[in-house]
Amino acid sequence: MRQPLVAGNWKMNGSRESVAALLEGLKAGIGQVGKAEVAVCPPSIFIPQVEEALRGTPIAWGGQDVSTEASGAYTGEISASMLLDFGCAYAIVGHSERRTLHCESDELVARKFAAARGAGLKPILCVGETLEEREQGVTEQVCARQIDAVLDREGVAALADAVIAYEPVWAIGTGKVASPEQAQEVHAFIRGRIAARDAGVAEGLRILYGGSMKPDNAAELLAKPDIDGGLIGGASLKAGDFLGICLAAN
Ligand code: 13P
Repeated sequence: MRQPLVAGNWKMNGSRESVAALLEGLKAGIGQVGKAEVAVCPPSIFIPQVEEALRGTPIAWGGQDVSTEASGAYTGEISASMLLDFGCAYAIVGHSERRTLHCESDELVARKFAAARGAGLKPILCVGETLEEREQGVTEQVCARQIDAVLDREGVAALADAVIAYEPVWAIGTGKVASPEQAQEVHAFIRGRIAARDAGVAEGLRILYGGSMKPDNAAELLAKPDIDGGLIGGASLKAGDFLGICLAAN
């Protein structure tokens, strides 16, 4: 049985004060979340604050991005070992906002995946198609290409302690959630693609859905057999909403 994972991607939101309040809210409610593993991915500047508040609680934390490099003259970058040093368990790689706004290629994302994993972090590899790609009927090809870049570089065993997040770009921050059937179809495709290389890895792999997941639509998405949790943007910024999604994973 795969343990569900609900991870919050705070993106570029928050202040010392709002982060403190959000963390207090999460800590107050986490006791009710029985089954799901819960994690938050704050902007990196808040990671020490998050570590301080969450150490000793069941809530994990991670980075929203990671450098391909270990150290050196890479202004503005943060390495996997730095994230690990501040208690991170996870690192998101290949979020569509980074693929689009920062021109991250499949190959670069695969290198970030390798850097995260090499340092002992669990990568959360984001994949997903744009609206145009969905309308062209190439959703599966796009997801396959994004996943194969990692599989071809790192081998299928590298996914054993990683997570994949299927985030259709047209559903991110738009309020247009994929229907449970649409999401399940792609999740099953992804698991099948990995099963073709290693059935055991595919069976154990957690595949999260991301894109306008809210407390009121989470339960029906999470009820699908291949949806093992969520990667939550907007709704992860309010403790009540985020915990509501975590509870729906029970
Ligand atoms: P929203 O939940 O705001 O649509 O964002 C999803 C996302 O991009 C999580 O990484």
